[in-house]
Amino acid sequence: EVLQSVPKFCFPFDVERVSQNQVGQHFTFVLTDIESKQRFGFCRLTSGGKICLCILSYLPWFEVYYKLLNTLADYLAKELENDLNETLKSLYNHPVPKANTPVNLSVNQEIFIASEQVVKDQLYVVPHSYFIAPDVTGLPTIPESRNLTEYFVAVDVNNMLQLYASMLHERRIVITSSKLSTLTACLHGSAALLYPMYWQHIYIPVLPPHLLDYCCAPMPYLIGIHSSLIERVRNKSLEDVVMLNVDTNTLESPFNDLYNLPSDVVSALKNKLKKQSTATGDGVARAFLRAQAALFGSYRDALRYKPGEPITFCEESFVKHRSSVMKQFLETAVNLQLFKQ
Ligand SMILES: *[C@@H]1O[C@H](CO)[C@@H](O)[C@H](O)[C@H]1NC(C)=O
Ligand SMILES: *[C@@H]1O[C@H](CO)[C@@H](O)[C@H](O)[C@H]1NC(C)=O
Ligand SMILES: *[C@@H]1O[C@H](CO)[C@@H](O)[C@H](O)[C@H]1NC(C)=O
Ligand SMILES: *[C@@H]1O[C@H](CO)[C@@H](O)[C@H](O)[C@H]1NC(C)=O
Repeated sequence: EVLQSVPKFCFPFDVERVSQNQVGQHFTFVLTDIESKQRFGFCRLTSGGKICLCILSYLPWFEVYYKLLNTLADYLAKELENDLNETLKSLYNHPVPKANTPVNLSVNQEIFIASEQVVKDQLYVVPHSYFIAPDVTGLPTIPESRNLTEYFVAVDVNNMLQLYASMLHERRIVITSSKLSTLTACLHGSAALLYPMYWQHIYIPVLPPHLLDYCCAPMPYLIGIHSSLIERVRNKSLEDVVMLNVDTNTLESPFNDLYNLPSDVVSALKNKLKKQSTATGDGVARAFLRAQAALFGSYRDALRYKPGEPITFCEESFVKHRSSVMKQFLETAVNLQLFKQ
């Protein structure tokens, strides 16, 4: 059943209008299984956009799989189908490695030697099919996290703040771009800024054409749509949708969500993000984490515990003794799915 739906997710654009310029790009889609676990599809278009290589995995190892897809595309281009099959087979049969341990899938000595020099200083993959299992417990850093880097480069601070505020209001949000790799990176990058909270609603990094009606869903969502399909979405005359075009860095919103966040938190975040020193390492992720802590961190003080009884959360004590803006924000925020969860 899953395999039958995969091809549609592998070509999530108007195939009549687009193909050549998508070649070589990496993108992801997410399939949510019955236990609501997210399974990622890591894709690379090749052969003039006619073939899509796709690895399905529960592991969010973007950089590892993207590099591996490049190797596979290389094999395909050089008609080394046997090597391609061998690599996939050894990947498939390999047990899940522990963080920071090396994995060697190399089947071809020559390719290994030829590429050693070029990729030496890159983080995960040393030769073509050799990688260090990533440790995904830290905050995402720039430039190592492609997600966050692409998002930070494409979208200015004001629009990042607007989108963050709209996510904290659990709006219906569409992100669009003409580049699939940028599109999915920006989806993941923006959602990651809610950490340690998670987006609880519909989450589709690239929406395939046959599912465009999802945009009409009355519940919150975070959806990426290739720009070749955006007119068809606009034709549905959706109301109450926040739309971010990352190619032009423009955000359209019928709401003033940023205004509803406590202004001291927003201005502290804004100042941090505008500093040169924030732009590398985990500065951006840390600035947002600090904002999350300022907004929600005091939840612990509102937990009530009596021996032998379940722990409860006291909404009233969570919102009282706060500034009036903060109080107003928290009174609505306690009803958000991401907070409840
Ligand atoms: C590689 O695997 C595919 C799928 O199992 C198979 O159709 C193909 O014949 C294999 N190619 C080689 C060269 O073994
Ligand atoms: C990986 O395995 C290949 C083939 O067995 C071998 O030639 C290569 O030296 C190994 N690479 C590393 C870094 O261990
Ligand atoms: C990209 O985003 C996904 C989904 O949020 C995350 O699991 C993954 O670790 C991110 N990748 C990088 C390289 O940061
Ligand atoms: C948008 O809707 C109009 C009128 O219903 C139709 O003529 C047009 O072809 C539609 N455009 C797209 C891109 O679907």
